[in-house]
Amino acid sequence: MSETVSPDQISQQLESIGQGHLARHAEALDAEARGAFYEQLAALDLGEISRLIESNTTSHTPETVPSDLRPADVISLGDGSREPAKHTGEALIRAGKAACFTVAGGQGSRLGYDGPKGCFPTSCATGKPLFRIFAEGILGTQRRHDVTIPWYIMTSPLNHDATVAFFEQHEHFGLDPAAVRFFPQGVMPSFDKDSGKLLLAQPGVLATNPDGHGGSFKALRVSGALDDMKQRGVEHLSYFQVDNPHARPVDPVFLGLHASSPDSSGQFSSKMVAKAVWNEKVGVFCVGDGKTQVIEYSDLPEDLAKQTDASGALAFNAGSVAIHAIGVGFIDKVTGDDAFALPFHRAIKKVPFVDPETGQRHEPSEPNAIKLERFVFDGIPIAERSIVVETDRLEEFAPVKNATGTDSIESSRALQTERSARWLEANGVPVPRRENGSVDAVIEISPLTAQDADELGEHDLPDAIDPGSTVTL
Ligand code: UD1
Repeated sequence: MSETVSPDQISQQLESIGQGHLARHAEALDAEARGAFYEQLAALDLGEISRLIESNTTSHTPETVPSDLRPADVISLGDGSREPAKHTGEALIRAGKAACFTVAGGQGSRLGYDGPKGCFPTSCATGKPLFRIFAEGILGTQRRHDVTIPWYIMTSPLNHDATVAFFEQHEHFGLDPAAVRFFPQGVMPSFDKDSGKLLLAQPGVLATNPDGHGGSFKALRVSGALDDMKQRGVEHLSYFQVDNPHARPVDPVFLGLHASSPDSSGQFSSKMVAKAVWNEKVGVFCVGDGKTQVIEYSDLPEDLAKQTDASGALAFNAGSVAIHAIGVGFIDKVTGDDAFALPFHRAIKKVPFVDPETGQRHEPSEPNAIKLERFVFDGIPIAERSIVVETDRLEEFAPVKNATGTDSIESSRALQTERSARWLEANGVPVPRRENGSVDAVIEISPLTAQDADELGEHDLPDAIDPGSTVTL
């Protein structure tokens, strides 16, 4: 809807799409609140929202997977194929053609942390926040290749200001502020799961939710970040989620494969790890309808998730660690096309709301509302060809998602120490281990020191690690 649409026209449209409760609510507001409410409504494409509400409530059909679904082909790197790919990737980095892209729209609420997830204290010995861990990785790569690597960070309206303030407070962790660019993702209105009625967060304010990391494609264009990339000559983005401290901000091997492998179109490439258990909460790389794609864990039918191959291993085993390489030209092409739109996925959640007539606030005890989100990996089937590269779980995956248990800060810190121990042992430094094999120390290696075992070998290392000690390198 354009900005010139009048309040009367908006009210009529609301009535015609079954959202008349909002028109009546607007009438009851004072002039200032009413103006702001109409402004919020005018920014929405109400026709499109009405169609989405219908297809996700009354005419909802559960997501299905293609009938010919099979596991995706995966590239497993031997030593022989690593070196040429690394060489290509490093040349791209040195030429300033690579940038980092982090989706950081999430809050730390699942961790019991009140703030942007990227600010959460995460490193195992010194508690560095996730943003600092990535910044050090970028700085380390910049120094190695004598280049500036721009970093694009997608926030959400919920955490944009807090994220920018955090970087300012920490002087951008030593990065050039001109090369760190923040932009907020869009939002979608949330609606009642049964009636489809749009909800109010407060009188005169619609309840909204961030539109998913798939919103990033549009947000990159709208915010000007895409133009900025083109002006800087950036050709490929190294994409990772804010919740994984083991994500290497720029991996030359992966970048090189993405840009030069004959199976890759240079448009959208991915990393996978073998799933730990059949019901691990990771998306799975598959091929269906002739296209490589990710089937999200919640959508993969249980019989397929449990299926095993002749060797007894899980057939649908290629778990997504949400690390991708994406061509800037690809984003430019697909977002410049009016027909382009990633699909929405629905999630049923608890969304507090106020009654538009009485103003009474409700805190639902059961999920009451539908949130619609786009997923960035739905861009994969749109690419001409897309590669999936196997990587080592410990090297690249130590996610921090939950307060306790699986994928918690505790499990992530243990993995961080374990990876440091592996790198030290690879360089001949004995590491104390308990009877069960776990490391009897806390060992943190800054990404400024090393981002893999080979880089660690370039340094003077301790002769041994004392049992029970805390070591930072
Ligand atoms: C996600 C992936 C899953 C993958 C796993 C690996 C989705 C839907 N699923 O699961 O396939 O195997 O990670 O760890 O992503 N985010 C935004 N804006 C949003 C929503 C999310 O920036 O609107 C960011 C979050 O900050 C977070 C990341 O996306 O860093 C993942 O989102 P989350 O919803 O937590 O996905 P997972 O269930 O962890």
